[in-house]
Amino acid sequence: MTLDFSTTLGPAWFPAPIFTASGCASSGKELAQFFPLKSIGAIVTKSIMVKARPGRPTPRMAETPSGMLNSIGLQGPGIDSFIANDIPWLVEQGARIIVSIAGETVDEYATLARRLRSVPGISALEVNISCPNVENRGMVFACDPVSSRAVIDGVRRTLGGDLPIIAKLSPDVTDIVSIAREVVDAGADGVALINTLLGMVINTETMRPHLGGKTGGLSGPAIRPVAVRAIYQVHQALPKIPILGMGGVRNGRDAFEMILAGASGVSVGTATFGNPKAAIEIQSELKALVSAKGFTSLKSAVGFAHREIDSESAKESM
Ligand code: SIN
Repeated sequence: MTLDFSTTLGPAWFPAPIFTASGCASSGKELAQFFPLKSIGAIVTKSIMVKARPGRPTPRMAETPSGMLNSIGLQGPGIDSFIANDIPWLVEQGARIIVSIAGETVDEYATLARRLRSVPGISALEVNISCPNVENRGMVFACDPVSSRAVIDGVRRTLGGDLPIIAKLSPDVTDIVSIAREVVDAGADGVALINTLLGMVINTETMRPHLGGKTGGLSGPAIRPVAVRAIYQVHQALPKIPILGMGGVRNGRDAFEMILAGASGVSVGTATFGNPKAAIEIQSELKALVSAKGFTSLKSAVGFAHREIDSESAKESM
């Protein structure tokens, strides 16, 4: 039986459901030596801001049990250089591109949307309203429903109907479903779940916070159950809204778990640091698993964990 492995995030179509996670592969240049970038669903680029930005002081990374903390602080070349250099290079590779954007104000997000609106080759915008590595926690728009709505509303008005919007949300909230409802209501076509969780490591030698920025974002397998829970809750509340799932995916089985919870696509991030081929390997493993479970399309597996177990299968598993 052939498997239709394609997926959609709102109006954007992708031939396969595995994506890079923003921030873990920059614009894909380092990964291109390991596999053709066009062979996965899309490259989600590192969140870009209006101006070039040096990021936070070092150290910026710390290993933690089953995970890592990063405190990069949205380092990047700024939108002009990104449009001039990174996008054309990705287009040349034949890669599909989801551009992640981040701003310090609602206006900055709208400015980025305006700059990107008519750039050819972009499949969707990921609007990162959840970066935890900012001086001012008030700037984590995704922690507040009113700010979340304001950003997405500004981006949607600027874009008109030009590009799909995927709003990237934070798990550091009491009720992620209410934030998802706000961004969808404001014009997001889908949501990316989840960004990192705010954490801290203290160096017991220096007896001070290890990271230059003191706090950082926790990623890796340690956060996967949090991501699966968030995906499950949002899919249950908003079953028609596509979800790009992420958080500690290391293999095809982990990706399948997110698909079953309700994700239409899965981003691979931290695993790439240990294995640059992680995304393509996870994609093959996922394909084999989806087929082995008897699905004829990836789409029919999305959200399968929400279905009631019928009495026959319940009996069989007793
Ligand atoms: C960073 O650059 O600090 C990470 C970005 C993010 O987690 O959104």
